[in-house]
Amino acid sequence: MIKIAVLVSGRGTNLQAIIDACENNFIPGKVVCVISNIENVYALERAKKHNIPNFVISHKNKERIEFEKELIKKLEEFKPDLICLAGFMRILTPYFIEYYRNRIMNIHPALLPAFKGLYGEKVHKAVIESGAKFSGCTVHFVTEEVDGGPIILQRIVPVEDEDTPETLAERVLKEEHIAYPMAIRLFAEGRLKIEGKRVKILY
Ligand code: GRF
Repeated sequence: MIKIAVLVSGRGTNLQAIIDACENNFIPGKVVCVISNIENVYALERAKKHNIPNFVISHKNKERIEFEKELIKKLEEFKPDLICLAGFMRILTPYFIEYYRNRIMNIHPALLPAFKGLYGEKVHKAVIESGAKFSGCTVHFVTEEVDGGPIILQRIVPVEDEDTPETLAERVLKEEHIAYPMAIRLFAEGRLKIEGKRVKILY
Protein backbone atom coordinates (compact mmCIF):
# COMPACT_ATOMS: atom_id res chain seq x y z
CA MET A 1 0.00 0.00 0.00
CA ILE A 2 1.55 3.27 -1.03
CA LYS A 3 0.83 6.56 0.65
CA ILE A 4 -0.36 9.23 -1.73
CA ALA A 5 -0.48 12.98 -1.09
CA VAL A 6 -2.53 15.09 -3.48
CA LEU A 7 -1.94 18.79 -4.12
CA VAL A 8 -4.91 20.72 -5.47
CA SER A 9 -6.14 24.23 -6.20
CA GLY A 10 -9.68 23.73 -7.45
CA ARG A 11 -12.69 21.52 -7.97
CA GLY A 12 -10.78 18.24 -7.57
CA THR A 13 -12.41 15.83 -10.01
CA ASN A 14 -9.06 14.10 -10.52
CA LEU A 15 -8.61 13.93 -6.76
CA GLN A 16 -12.01 12.23 -6.62
CA ALA A 17 -10.98 9.70 -9.26
CA ILE A 18 -7.84 8.90 -7.25
CA ILE A 19 -9.74 8.57 -3.96
CA ASP A 20 -12.33 6.30 -5.58
CA ALA A 21 -9.66 4.14 -7.21
CA CYS A 22 -7.98 3.66 -3.82
CA GLU A 23 -11.24 2.90 -2.07
CA ASN A 24 -12.24 0.26 -4.58
CA ASN A 25 -8.75 -1.25 -4.50
CA PHE A 26 -7.86 -0.44 -8.11
CA ILE A 27 -4.86 1.42 -6.70
CA PRO A 28 -3.02 -0.46 -3.95
CA GLY A 29 -2.69 2.73 -1.98
CA LYS A 30 -4.29 5.34 0.20
CA VAL A 31 -4.69 9.09 -0.08
CA VAL A 32 -3.07 10.20 3.18
CA CYS A 33 -3.48 13.95 2.80
CA VAL A 34 -4.80 16.64 0.51
CA ILE A 35 -3.26 20.10 0.46
CA SER A 36 -4.67 23.12 -1.33
CA ASN A 37 -2.96 26.45 -1.79
CA ILE A 38 -6.39 28.09 -2.15
CA GLU A 39 -9.03 28.29 0.58
CA ASN A 40 -12.55 26.95 0.22
CA VAL A 41 -12.04 24.97 -2.96
CA TYR A 42 -14.32 22.03 -3.61
CA ALA A 43 -11.41 19.58 -3.61
CA LEU A 44 -11.15 20.12 0.16
CA GLU A 45 -14.82 19.16 0.58
CA ARG A 46 -14.13 15.95 -1.28
CA ALA A 47 -11.27 15.14 1.10
CA LYS A 48 -13.48 15.90 4.11
CA LYS A 49 -16.23 13.61 2.83
CA HIS A 50 -13.74 10.76 2.77
CA ASN A 51 -12.17 11.66 6.14
CA ILE A 52 -8.85 12.45 4.54
CA PRO A 53 -6.67 14.95 6.42
CA ASN A 54 -6.82 18.19 4.45
CA PHE A 55 -5.01 21.49 4.75
CA VAL A 56 -4.73 24.91 3.18
CA ILE A 57 -1.22 26.26 2.77
CA SER A 58 -1.44 29.61 1.06
CA HIS A 59 1.30 30.76 -1.30
CA LYS A 60 0.30 34.40 -0.87
CA ASN A 61 2.88 36.93 0.34
CA LYS A 62 5.56 34.26 0.50
CA GLU A 63 8.76 33.52 -1.35
CA ARG A 64 8.37 30.36 -3.42
CA ILE A 65 10.92 28.53 -1.28
CA GLU A 66 9.20 29.53 1.93
CA PHE A 67 5.90 28.20 0.56
CA GLU A 68 7.52 24.94 -0.51
CA LYS A 69 9.26 24.47 2.84
CA GLU A 70 5.87 24.75 4.54
CA LEU A 71 4.44 22.31 2.05
CA ILE A 72 7.22 19.79 2.65
CA LYS A 73 6.91 20.15 6.41
CA LYS A 74 3.23 19.29 6.26
CA LEU A 75 3.74 16.51 3.71
CA GLU A 76 6.44 14.89 5.81
CA GLU A 77 3.99 14.44 8.67
CA PHE A 78 2.43 11.84 6.39
CA LYS A 79 5.59 10.39 4.79
CA PRO A 80 4.06 10.07 1.30
CA ASP A 81 5.54 7.73 -1.29
CA LEU A 82 4.00 9.72 -4.12
CA ILE A 83 2.88 13.32 -4.59
CA CYS A 84 0.12 13.79 -7.16
CA LEU A 85 -0.54 17.21 -8.60
CA ALA A 86 -4.21 17.36 -9.50
CA GLY A 87 -5.10 20.78 -10.81
CA PHE A 88 -2.44 22.33 -8.56
CA MET A 89 -1.82 25.81 -9.95
CA ARG A 90 1.71 26.52 -8.71
CA ILE A 91 4.95 25.84 -10.51
CA LEU A 92 7.30 23.98 -8.21
CA THR A 93 10.93 24.99 -7.87
CA PRO A 94 13.94 22.65 -8.19
CA TYR A 95 14.07 22.56 -4.38
CA PHE A 96 10.74 20.76 -4.07
CA ILE A 97 11.32 18.64 -7.16
CA GLU A 98 14.69 17.42 -5.87
CA TYR A 99 13.18 16.59 -2.49
CA TYR A 100 10.68 14.24 -4.10
CA ARG A 101 12.69 13.27 -7.19
CA ASN A 102 10.78 10.80 -9.42
CA ARG A 103 7.95 10.73 -6.90
CA ILE A 104 5.85 13.64 -8.24
CA MET A 105 3.23 13.11 -10.94
CA ASN A 106 1.08 15.56 -12.82
CA ILE A 107 -1.77 15.33 -15.29
CA HIS A 108 -1.93 17.64 -18.27
CA PRO A 109 -5.11 17.98 -20.39
CA ALA A 110 -3.38 17.62 -23.78
CA LEU A 111 -0.96 15.35 -25.57
CA LEU A 112 2.50 16.45 -24.46
CA PRO A 113 5.01 17.51 -25.64
CA ALA A 114 2.56 19.65 -27.62
CA PHE A 115 0.62 22.40 -25.86
CA LYS A 116 2.97 22.72 -22.91
CA GLY A 117 2.69 25.46 -20.34
CA LEU A 118 -0.98 26.16 -21.02
CA TYR A 119 -3.76 25.44 -18.58
CA GLY A 120 -7.53 25.51 -18.26
CA GLU A 121 -9.55 26.55 -21.28
CA LYS A 122 -6.43 27.91 -22.97
CA VAL A 123 -5.07 24.43 -23.70
CA HIS A 124 -8.26 23.27 -25.38
CA LYS A 125 -8.61 26.52 -27.30
CA ALA A 126 -5.05 26.15 -28.58
CA VAL A 127 -5.69 22.53 -29.61
CA ILE A 128 -8.84 23.48 -31.55
CA GLU A 129 -7.08 26.42 -33.24
CA SER A 130 -4.13 24.21 -34.22
CA GLY A 131 -6.43 22.03 -36.33
CA ALA A 132 -5.25 18.87 -34.55
CA LYS A 133 -7.58 15.91 -35.07
CA PHE A 134 -6.81 14.37 -31.70
CA SER A 135 -6.21 15.59 -28.20
CA GLY A 136 -6.10 13.78 -24.90
CA CYS A 137 -4.32 13.78 -21.59
CA THR A 138 -0.84 13.01 -20.38
CA VAL A 139 0.29 11.75 -17.00
CA HIS A 140 3.97 12.50 -16.46
CA PHE A 141 6.63 12.70 -13.80
CA VAL A 142 7.39 16.25 -12.76
CA THR A 143 10.86 17.61 -13.45
CA GLU A 144 12.31 21.12 -13.51
CA GLU A 145 11.04 21.54 -17.08
CA VAL A 146 7.38 22.62 -16.88
CA ASP A 147 5.20 19.92 -18.49
CA GLY A 148 8.41 18.34 -19.78
CA GLY A 149 8.98 15.37 -17.46
CA PRO A 150 9.00 11.72 -18.57
CA ILE A 151 5.60 10.65 -19.94
CA ILE A 152 3.96 7.76 -18.08
CA LEU A 153 0.83 7.34 -20.12
CA GLN A 154 -1.53 9.11 -22.46
CA ARG A 155 -5.11 8.64 -23.58
CA ILE A 156 -6.52 10.18 -26.73
CA VAL A 157 -9.84 11.66 -27.80
CA PRO A 158 -10.97 12.99 -31.19
CA VAL A 159 -11.30 16.72 -31.77
CA GLU A 160 -14.66 17.29 -33.46
CA ASP A 161 -15.31 20.12 -35.92
CA GLU A 162 -18.04 21.49 -33.67
CA ASP A 163 -15.94 21.42 -30.50
CA THR A 164 -15.70 24.39 -28.21
CA PRO A 165 -13.02 24.49 -25.49
CA GLU A 166 -15.75 23.39 -23.06
CA THR A 167 -16.89 20.33 -25.01
CA LEU A 168 -13.32 19.24 -25.69
CA ALA A 169 -12.38 19.77 -22.03
CA GLU A 170 -15.25 17.56 -20.97
CA ARG A 171 -14.22 14.75 -23.33
CA VAL A 172 -10.60 14.97 -22.19
CA LEU A 173 -11.55 15.08 -18.51
CA LYS A 174 -13.30 11.73 -18.72
CA GLU A 175 -10.06 10.20 -19.96
CA GLU A 176 -8.08 11.98 -17.23
CA HIS A 177 -10.15 10.17 -14.64
CA ILE A 178 -9.07 6.85 -16.17
CA ALA A 179 -5.47 7.75 -16.94
CA TYR A 180 -4.44 9.16 -13.56
CA PRO A 181 -5.52 6.14 -11.48
CA MET A 182 -3.90 3.82 -14.05
CA ALA A 183 -0.57 5.65 -13.82
CA ILE A 184 -0.68 5.67 -10.02
CA ARG A 185 -1.47 1.98 -9.97
CA LEU A 186 1.55 1.23 -12.16
CA PHE A 187 3.72 3.30 -9.82
CA ALA A 188 2.31 1.54 -6.77
CA GLU A 189 3.05 -1.83 -8.35
CA GLY A 190 6.65 -0.78 -8.97
CA ARG A 191 6.20 -1.14 -12.71
CA LEU A 192 7.49 2.22 -13.89
CA LYS A 193 11.12 2.47 -14.89
CA ILE A 194 12.41 5.88 -15.90
CA GLU A 195 15.11 5.79 -18.57
CA GLY A 196 15.92 9.35 -19.58
CA LYS A 197 12.79 10.80 -21.13
CA ARG A 198 11.13 7.41 -21.52
CA VAL A 199 9.15 5.62 -18.87
CA LYS A 200 9.15 1.89 -19.48
CA ILE A 201 6.18 -0.07 -18.19
CA LEU A 202 7.35 -3.38 -16.79
CA TYR A 203 5.26 -6.47 -17.31
C1 GRF B 1 -7.44 19.04 -15.15
O1 GRF B 1 -7.91 19.33 -16.42
C2 GRF B 1 -5.97 18.67 -15.19
O2 GRF B 1 -5.57 18.09 -16.38
C3 GRF B 1 -5.29 20.01 -15.03
O3 GRF B 1 -6.12 20.74 -14.16
C4 GRF B 1 -7.45 20.26 -14.24
C5 GRF B 1 -7.86 19.91 -12.84
O4 GRF B 1 -9.22 19.54 -12.75
N1 GRF B 1 -3.93 19.84 -14.57
P1 GRF B 1 -9.78 18.93 -11.41
O5 GRF B 1 -9.53 19.94 -10.30
O6 GRF B 1 -9.05 17.64 -11.15
O7 GRF B 1 -11.23 18.72 -11.63
